[in-house]
Amino acid sequence: MGEAILLVGGQGTRLRPLTLSTPKPMLPVAGLPVTVHQILRARDAGVTRVVLGTSYRAEVFAEQLGDGRDLGVEIAYAVEAEPLGTGGAIRNAADLLTCAPHDPVMVLNGDVLSGIDYGALVAGHAASGAALTLHLTRVDDPTAYGLVPTDGDDRVLAFREKPQTPEEIVTDQINAGCYVFTRSVIDQIPGGRPVSVERETFPELLDRGLLVRGVVDDAYWLDLGTPWDFVRGSADLVRGIAPWSGHEPAPYLLLPGAQVSEQAVLGQGTTVGRGACVHGDAVVEGSVLMDGSVVEAGACVIDSVIGQRARIEAGATIVGAVIGDDAVIGAGNELRHGARVWPGVTLPPTSVRFSSDA
Ligand code: GDD
Ligand code: MG
Repeated sequence: MGEAILLVGGQGTRLRPLTLSTPKPMLPVAGLPVTVHQILRARDAGVTRVVLGTSYRAEVFAEQLGDGRDLGVEIAYAVEAEPLGTGGAIRNAADLLTCAPHDPVMVLNGDVLSGIDYGALVAGHAASGAALTLHLTRVDDPTAYGLVPTDGDDRVLAFREKPQTPEEIVTDQINAGCYVFTRSVIDQIPGGRPVSVERETFPELLDRGLLVRGVVDDAYWLDLGTPWDFVRGSADLVRGIAPWSGHEPAPYLLLPGAQVSEQAVLGQGTTVGRGACVHGDAVVEGSVLMDGSVVEAGACVIDSVIGQRARIEAGATIVGAVIGDDAVIGAGNELRHGARVWPGVTLPPTSVRFSSDA
């Protein structure tokens, strides 16, 4: 299949404070950046060259991924001085493509875990002669996504990005952030200015009467845009619910240098990062402990992200929360659903006891 573009330039606002230091696509899920999971799946489907469309914290990608040799692909970097939006980013990245005008180019949003068969999607695109083929998935609440109704022949009928009113919710099929473009179609996106592929380019293709296909697929799919989906995606990879070639499903994952006491209870797909420590009888479930973080005895961490070198002191309870890098949660504190602690913040120990059924 050849070449792919990865869109990795978004700010990742909903994942703050995690994305203050690391761009969203480079955050580790099950110990590897989302982008790496995507590149490996693309490589396994026959992609040999990947152009990363970068903007926010562009330098981090090249520092960590280099020329792609270690991942078995060739990586090229397209950098936007100012964010160009999804369409502008695709157009900008196209300058670094080497394929011919009629060749298929796969484009992936950089924050999605998915089990779609890339090879079949590209083959179907080529066979249909379409200008664009989109992977669609079904979700219970489509309002945070782009709605894409199709007819019985997989022809896309409309694009409704982030519907605001109930009348706009015409389908549960959404844009899954994976496209196959015929290259010449990308080259026609206007250059040098911000363009939204979802709001501008896609509707325009319909207006021009071109064939746009949407293929609904029910394989595993998750957008990692919020902290809760981020921890879920990581846990799903560890437990073998999300696709990860060569990985043996397990209740938890210890990265090199992780230290876990024998009394500790780990489970529900938890990842313990490089050099991270879990002491005593601490309980850690469904969580991501980033590199160098510490969970002390008697602490309980559930469905949460603990940032790099952050420390959860004895007896603290963290449920559905995000703790920034280098933060310290003093003994006995209790943080629940939706709490976010900014990097470097210290919460002093507390002797106050909260009821646990709040
Ligand atoms: N290079 C570059 N420049 N990349 C960008 C820019 C930009 O200006 N803006 C966004 N991106 C990247 C993000 O890093 C992300 O990987 C991808 O484009 C999509 O942006 P998100 O901010 O995650 O969009 P979304 O999740 O709200 O919606 C998109 O994805 C949904 C599926 O996950 C849309 O494509 C929806 O239609 C779709 O349903
Ligand atoms: Mg997203």
